[in-house]
Amino acid sequence: MATIYLDQASTSYPKAPSVAQAVYDYLNGSAVNVNRGGYQAAYSVEGQIFETREQLLRLFHFTSGKGKNVIFTPNITTSLNILLKGLLRSGDHVLVSSMEHNAVMRPLVQLEADGVTFDRIPCSDDGSLLIEKAEKLLRPNTRLLVCLHASNVCGTMMPVQKLGEFCQKHHLLFILDTAQTAGSVPIDMEELHLDALAFTGHKGLRGPQGTGGFLIRNELASQIEPLLSGGTGSISHTEEVPAFLPDRFEPGTPNVPGILGLHAALCDLEKTDMNAIRQHELELTQYFINGILQMDPTESVLRIIGKRDIKDRTSVVSVQTLQMDMARASYELDVTYGIMTRVGLHCAPSAHKSLGTYPEGTIRFSFGPENTHHEVDFALHALAEVAEIPQHL
Ligand SMILES: Cc1ncc(COP(=O)(O)O)c(C=O)c1O
Repeated sequence: MATIYLDQASTSYPKAPSVAQAVYDYLNGSAVNVNRGGYQAAYSVEGQIFETREQLLRLFHFTSGKGKNVIFTPNITTSLNILLKGLLRSGDHVLVSSMEHNAVMRPLVQLEADGVTFDRIPCSDDGSLLIEKAEKLLRPNTRLLVCLHASNVCGTMMPVQKLGEFCQKHHLLFILDTAQTAGSVPIDMEELHLDALAFTGHKGLRGPQGTGGFLIRNELASQIEPLLSGGTGSISHTEEVPAFLPDRFEPGTPNVPGILGLHAALCDLEKTDMNAIRQHELELTQYFINGILQMDPTESVLRIIGKRDIKDRTSVVSVQTLQMDMARASYELDVTYGIMTRVGLHCAPSAHKSLGTYPEGTIRFSFGPENTHHEVDFALHALAEVAEIPQHL
C-alpha cells in the first residue's frame, strides 16, 4: 500500500533533497570531530558548521548578529530550556500565549518552584491571540514575553509584529518559538525586535532530527547562566565556563552529522522560493478545509478546529470526528488507507483548553512542500469513509 505522510508538523518528510547524502558523506568520509583537532579535516568541518551559522543568520535576517550568535542544540526544546532556565530568576514574571507547546510550558511550570510566575494571554476559539488583553496582564516585574509563532495544533499564527512592538513599548525581552514556521514563513529577527529566536532543524527546515538551536543578541546572552557546562575545545587551561559565544552554550561534542545535514537542507532552501512553498502549503490547506466543508456542511460528523481561511495561518489543520473515537479514526486512516496523521493533544494541553478541545484532542493533518492535491483528495475520501459521512456511503 502506498503511504501518504500528513504529519509534517511533527517532523518533515521527505527531508530536503541533499540532506541524506551530506550526512552519509560525512559519516563515510573523515567523520572527524570539531574544535578538538589541529588538522585540515577538522578545520574543513568547522568551516561548514560556521557556514551553517551564517546561513541561519541570513534566513532569519539577524543582520546585527554574527556567526557566534547562533547556538546549536539538539532541538528547540533544549533551546527553550537553556533560554528560560538560564534567564529567569525568583521574582520574574513572564507572559505567554494560551496556545503554547509544552516546550515552553513545562520549563515555566518547573520554574514556578523557584519563584517565577507567568500569565497566559488568552486566545479566541480559533486560536487568534487577543492581544488587547496583554496590557492588563503586565506587572512591574514582567521581564519576558515568550510565545510560539504558529500553533502546532490548529496552525493559527500569532501577531508577532504587534507583539514585538508591545515588548519594545514595555521594555520586555521577546523570545520566539519558530518550530512551526521556520522554513515556510519568512521571519525577520530585526523587524520583530526579537532578543532570541529558537528553531528546530527537522520540521520546516527539512534537516535531520537532533538539530536545532537559537539565535541570540549579546545583551540577552550575557544575562543567561548556561544550563550545561563542560569541554568546548577552547580555553582548556581553565575550569571556568567560557564567557564567549557560541562556546558558552555549546559544551560537549555537537551533532556534527546532523548539523551538516541541516547545512545541506539550508543550501536547498536557499535555492527555493520560500513564498512558493508557503503558497503551495496554504493552497493544500484551503483545499482540504473546503473539501471537508463540502462533504459535511453542517459539521455534524467532522468538526474543523481553528480558522477556516488561510489568512495568518500555517498548513496545520485539526479535525474532530464527532461520531467516532478519534484514536480509532486515526488508526483506520493509517492501516486501511496508509495516511499518517497525529491524534491527541500534540504536547499542547494549554492550546486545546483554549480551543475547547481538551481533553479529547483532535486528529491533526499537516501538509508540506511535497504533498500534492491528489494526496489531499485521497485523504478527504478516506476521512469521509472512516468518519462515516452519510452521503459518502
Ligand atoms: C510550537 C512547537 N514548539 C516546540 C516544539 C518542540 O520541537 P522539538 O521536539 O523539535 O524540540 C514543537 C514540536 O512539535 C512545536 O510544534
